[in-house]
Amino acid sequence: MHENKVIDESKQGEALMIESTVKGGKKLFLESYGCAMNFSDSEIVASILKDKGFSTTQDFFEADVIFVNTCAIREGAEQRVRKRLTEYRKAKKTNPDLIIGVLGCMAERLKSQFLEEEKLVDIVVGPDAYRSLPELIEIAETGQKAVNVLLSKEETYADIAPVRLGSNGVTAFISITRGCDNMCAFCVVPFTRGRERSRDPETIVNEAKELFEQGYREVTLLGQNVDSYLWTGGGLKKENPSTEELQNATTFAQLLEKVALIHPDLRVRFSTSHPKDMLDEVLYTIAKYDNICSYVHLPVQSGNSRILEMMNRGYTREWYLNRIAAIRRIIPDAGISMDIITGFCSETEKEHQDTLSLMEDVKYDFGYMFSYSERPKTLAERKYKDDVPSEVKSRRLQEIVDLQVKHSAFRTKQGVGKVHRVLVEGTSKKSKEELFGRNSQNTVVVFPKENYKKGDYVNVMVESCTGGTLIGKAV
Ligand code: 5AD
Ligand code: SF4
Repeated sequence: MHENKVIDESKQGEALMIESTVKGGKKLFLESYGCAMNFSDSEIVASILKDKGFSTTQDFFEADVIFVNTCAIREGAEQRVRKRLTEYRKAKKTNPDLIIGVLGCMAERLKSQFLEEEKLVDIVVGPDAYRSLPELIEIAETGQKAVNVLLSKEETYADIAPVRLGSNGVTAFISITRGCDNMCAFCVVPFTRGRERSRDPETIVNEAKELFEQGYREVTLLGQNVDSYLWTGGGLKKENPSTEELQNATTFAQLLEKVALIHPDLRVRFSTSHPKDMLDEVLYTIAKYDNICSYVHLPVQSGNSRILEMMNRGYTREWYLNRIAAIRRIIPDAGISMDIITGFCSETEKEHQDTLSLMEDVKYDFGYMFSYSERPKTLAERKYKDDVPSEVKSRRLQEIVDLQVKHSAFRTKQGVGKVHRVLVEGTSKKSKEELFGRNSQNTVVVFPKENYKKGDYVNVMVESCTGGTLIGKAV
């Protein structure tokens, strides 16, 4: 997924099939959709089940339990899951004891309604209830339906060592917060993932240390809004921390620093930043440490202040551009990417042009672009009309994607003729004789293998490029 410099909607929500584990010689098939947080959650699920003595399969016809970890962010993501469930049904015909479970955001959104809509689903489990999976499997084995969609104010799975699934052995995700308190008008996440809570920094640093000792060379710290990470001794951020509590607290900038100090050869990335909360302090920390990558994913959603206000994003176009200016000032070589939603309720042609002109100003390295999809229960669904016709949404999206293709090519070209420090992630898809990795800005770099291998840092002189990939030779 990361190899696409410009990523449109069709590339999102690609499923990763994962081998995992099940009880007593039984087999589990686990599939994940959606964001990095969901993939990270699947690694927690795998760990919980492995502790119950489990084994693995990649063929769902062979499975005793099928779990699908779902996404609810857009209607399209849910449709993909429903389609997949109809395929699982075929396996249920040949194996009547097969247990099918739906996990994650779509499970949380639909709760027990899922069991009525999708008759062959046996288990429904929300993102904060994975510790109860072993018991829920036991219930389902007796032929009853099992549901746990309780959201928690404390759960961070801090003590669970994730089983790294589909891993390249070089890069890994570590979740640092769960949930979201922002209430963007379009977004279902606050309803599916609950209140925001931060994870104990000590457990984060220990997880990163262990990964480094196992040979991993890059960690990505994950949260819906990493900038609002704050550890004040308890999981849920206190509403009004006292001055003393704040003095003893760990902020996101401090957490980044703690992880960066583990080892200079451990690269640190993070996602996602929020324009309203991103502080210069974080940018200075990135600039200070060579091993914190010069890359910021800063979703803008729209380039028009009226739409941003309706979206309840908490910033204006000017504020956002000021944050971009701060990134360029403090980290001059930074790669910057975005998320954009086009066709939000009442968006006019002129307001769409504002999004295009903001893109012109920033010239993002790459981006994730979507057309607005109304989600049940959200502020926008309750307050506004989803009134931009779908042809208009598609046309606007195409204009945004086309412009981003141009900007990605422009940014990639700027990397030609320079030496890039690349962390090797594996063999290039196109040729066994070539390796691929990423530079600090998150751009993919391909070069002849020679004697280098996965996990090495290699200085690559870049000689040419395609639209989004740099091509060169080790120096
Ligand atoms: N419709 C379209 N895109 C959405 N996103 C979130 N909610 C919606 C929605 N209802 C996009 C935003 C967010 C990204 C993860 O998904 O751009 O940043
Ligand atoms: Fe991730 Fe959001 Fe989709 Fe949930 S709804 S899986 S948090 S992208």
